[in-house]
Amino acid sequence: MKTQVGIIGAGPAGLILAQLLHLQGIDSVILERKSRNNIEGTVKAGILEQTTIDILREIGVGDRMDREGHFHNGNYFQFNGQRRHIDLIKYSGGKQVVVYPQHEVIIDLVNARYENGKDIIFDVEDVTLHDIDSKQPKIRYRKNGLDEELVCDFIAGCDGYHGPSRHAIPEQNRKEHVHFYQFGWLGILSDSAPAADELIYANHDQGFALLSTRTPILQRHYLQVDPFDGIANWSDDRIWSELTARTKTNDGWQVPDGPINSKGIFQMRSFVCETMQYGRLFIAGDAAHTVPPTGAKGLNLAATDVKVMACGIMEFYEQGITDILDRYSEICLRRVWGAERFSYFMTKLLHMNPHLDSFERGVQLAELDYFTSSEAGLKMIAENYVGLPIQWEKAGDLKTLLK
Ligand code: APR
Ligand code: PHB
Repeated sequence: MKTQVGIIGAGPAGLILAQLLHLQGIDSVILERKSRNNIEGTVKAGILEQTTIDILREIGVGDRMDREGHFHNGNYFQFNGQRRHIDLIKYSGGKQVVVYPQHEVIIDLVNARYENGKDIIFDVEDVTLHDIDSKQPKIRYRKNGLDEELVCDFIAGCDGYHGPSRHAIPEQNRKEHVHFYQFGWLGILSDSAPAADELIYANHDQGFALLSTRTPILQRHYLQVDPFDGIANWSDDRIWSELTARTKTNDGWQVPDGPINSKGIFQMRSFVCETMQYGRLFIAGDAAHTVPPTGAKGLNLAATDVKVMACGIMEFYEQGITDILDRYSEICLRRVWGAERFSYFMTKLLHMNPHLDSFERGVQLAELDYFTSSEAGLKMIAENYVGLPIQWEKAGDLKTLLK
């Protein structure tokens, strides 16, 4: 089998890339390890930045997001039992975010792929990359017990943190930066009323809590926990009592509770792979970098990586030049490090590190006070939360390249 772009992974990165390429008349094949049901049903984070909202609309998959998503003009930061509003629109120059869960984005993108008359090859095994420094890189895999080979012009490694693509870049050509946190998140879905009109990020002596939403009757909330704790230690009563204690306000407000229908604990990590390219292989999204969820950046970074990649591939086929592709990693990494910085900052600002001394706790509270009250602090939070632009001296080329 032959294609122009072989895409490994049908997460947000792979599926957005396939749609961007399709709209430019560029052929791709998507190989996915899991089943369609699995990728469409897994609960993940749910905030899309303005940059992602724009990309999804541009590629024709924004209709359901526009109808069913919850558009937020701001959010709340809470500490010492007081809630401070961050006006994202005001401090970011008119930008918003939308709560629209990742699996809904996946459903829309998979539907678009089939509406284009294209396929996704699900349930593939043993994916390996070959000849990536040649003009004919290849992907080998097994499907239904048969060995297959896909010959490509380019390979897009969109296979998440655990996928094989990143490891195909020779070790001496990549540097991996990783940072672990002493915190994990316990996430729940509950049949309860929304906590507020916008998200609440709460700092408390007992630890961080985040009150988010999915629908008017289904809420998504998170608690900072020990990353090695077992979910069996967290009864529904214990979860509600911690969520209540960490998010109640001095004026007596308490989070509305209800039956919990899903719960799980996950670890957080910051990770960046430098470089994001080697020969004809380009890696994107979680394959190249991960962020803790505090800044809500994961999917959004994946979307802009593949936009840059699609522009570079388009430039190659249209003009026969590789100016953008040659600088793919450099262009993406500037925005990636910006989002890494912000996610790290948000995580440190809001969580309780068990080893903080009382002086450091005082500084943390002073930082919360400063960033939620000074114009400079509010602007820093707002412009990062809604997503930094792709900063590149030729960013205009990216805008004009895609038809
Ligand atoms: N072969 C084929 N597919 C693979 C392989 C493999 N060996 N390994 C992983 N995959 C698939 C996964 O099953 C998954 O569907 O690649 C896809 C990668 O998707 P994501 O992990 O969602 O990564 P990405 O598309 O970069 O999106 C990043 O997704 O998981 C969130 O927190 C993450 O929000 C971030 C966003
Ligand atoms: C979510 O709703 O899942 C969510 C929202 C904001 C975050 C992380 C996750 O920062």
